[in-house]
Amino acid sequence: MFSPAWAAFASLLLPAAVLAQYNLVKEYAGQSFFDDWTFYNHFDNLTNGNVNFLGATDAFDDKLAFINEAGNAIMKVDNSSTLKFNQNRNSIRISTKDQFTVGSVWIADIRHVPYGCSVWGAFWSSAPTWPLGGEIDTFEAVNQDYYSHMGLHTNPGCTHSSDAVQSSKLINSTDCSVQANGNQGCIVSNPTPSSYGADFALTGGGVYVTEFAIDGISIWYFNRSSIPSVLQGNVSSINTQQLGIPVANWPADDCAINQFFQPQELVFDITLCGDYAGASSVFFETCTGVCYDDWVLGDPSHYDTAYFEVSYVRVYGQPGELTVLQGSSGRRSAEVQTVAALFLFALGSLYAFAQFL
Ligand SMILES: *[C@@H]1O[C@H](CO)[C@@H](O)[C@H](O)[C@H]1NC(C)=O
Ligand SMILES: *[C@@H]1O[C@H](CO)[C@@H](O)[C@H](O)[C@H]1NC(C)=O
Ligand SMILES: *[C@@H]1O[C@H](CO)[C@@H](O)[C@H](O)[C@H]1NC(C)=O
Ligand SMILES: *[C@@H]1O[C@H](CO)[C@@H](O)[C@H](O)[C@H]1NC(C)=O
Ligand SMILES: *[C@@H]1O[C@H](CO)[C@@H](O)[C@H](O)[C@H]1NC(C)=O
Repeated sequence: MFSPAWAAFASLLLPAAVLAQYNLVKEYAGQSFFDDWTFYNHFDNLTNGNVNFLGATDAFDDKLAFINEAGNAIMKVDNSSTLKFNQNRNSIRISTKDQFTVGSVWIADIRHVPYGCSVWGAFWSSAPTWPLGGEIDTFEAVNQDYYSHMGLHTNPGCTHSSDAVQSSKLINSTDCSVQANGNQGCIVSNPTPSSYGADFALTGGGVYVTEFAIDGISIWYFNRSSIPSVLQGNVSSINTQQLGIPVANWPADDCAINQFFQPQELVFDITLCGDYAGASSVFFETCTGVCYDDWVLGDPSHYDTAYFEVSYVRVYGQPGELTVLQGSSGRRSAEVQTVAALFLFALGSLYAFAQFL
């Protein structure tokens, strides 16, 4: 059955090398930015923050999620309500309806990130089954941190390899296991001085590129004045080999990507206090007072800077691979249909070829 001719034919169908070329498969931008996300619609029972994550209708009615005049998506914490003791502050947590497999890259152009005492904002991804399917944090920071950071969270056995090829020298922790170091994850700080806070906003933010590849996970960050031409405009394809050395890199040699990661949903969320921002060891590094009493219950203007402003999120997939798993909408994307057609065509060809043998 298995002949050299057969192997040669198979090699035409299955590229051997890991490709760095990706084509646009999904865009979240402009007036339709929010169309394909799920709004959490529940209080923060995930990280114990003092927020209610609104459902879509309330989020739009209360203008905590909207498209601004510049055409960018805003996701913000309620900064107008004065709360009574025991109440939570309204906020946003959205996750994509679609999931993206290994062989995907997501690019987010972010102009403002949430910051301030008690604030914990993140742009990240996770498999629906956690920690089995892994978590990739592209942007995360709390309170008045100086640096934002990136990191992975997985089942035990995945670590940040010393062979990583990355520009950041700020490696905070190397064990990605949720069971190690109080689930700190394997963290790399973004060394750009303007990676968070007012400086991030003043310099116009920047573009994050997250590559979820079989040979490793890599993150690039480009501030507004250093965005490479290959990422400018609405590019229909990208090649990550043209982006230079990533700021953070977790090679597969110490973290088998297929073993520790499953298809990912992208998430934006802003919580307040909770397991991380509110942990006293973390909170008192940059803030004073009592996280809930003095900040969440305090002057709502504390939250004037607690918002994301995002120009776009675009997801790219390896050509010919089924990289977009459709969510609750049940639609099949053009890419999926193309892949299905190619697959049927390949099956048909194989069958014809097998007959020929
Ligand atoms: C959080 O609440 C939602 C909605 O009730 C529920 O489906 C989910 O299981 C809860 N999660 C946790 C971790 O308690
Ligand atoms: C990571 O290390 C940097 C540099 O030492 C430090 O400023 C930062 O607070 C650390 N971040 C975390 C999340 O531990
Ligand atoms: C933007 O990035 C460039 C290249 O890394 C760097 O030289 C510059 O200092 C950065 N600017 C800011 C404001 O962080
Ligand atoms: C970006 O390009 C894609 C096609 O490649 C198109 O569907 C989409 O509408 C474009 N987005 C914008 C904001 O122009
Ligand atoms: C809330 O914050 C926004 C900026 O994010 C500001 O424009 C607005 O005036 C603030 N609202 C109130 C009621 O202070």
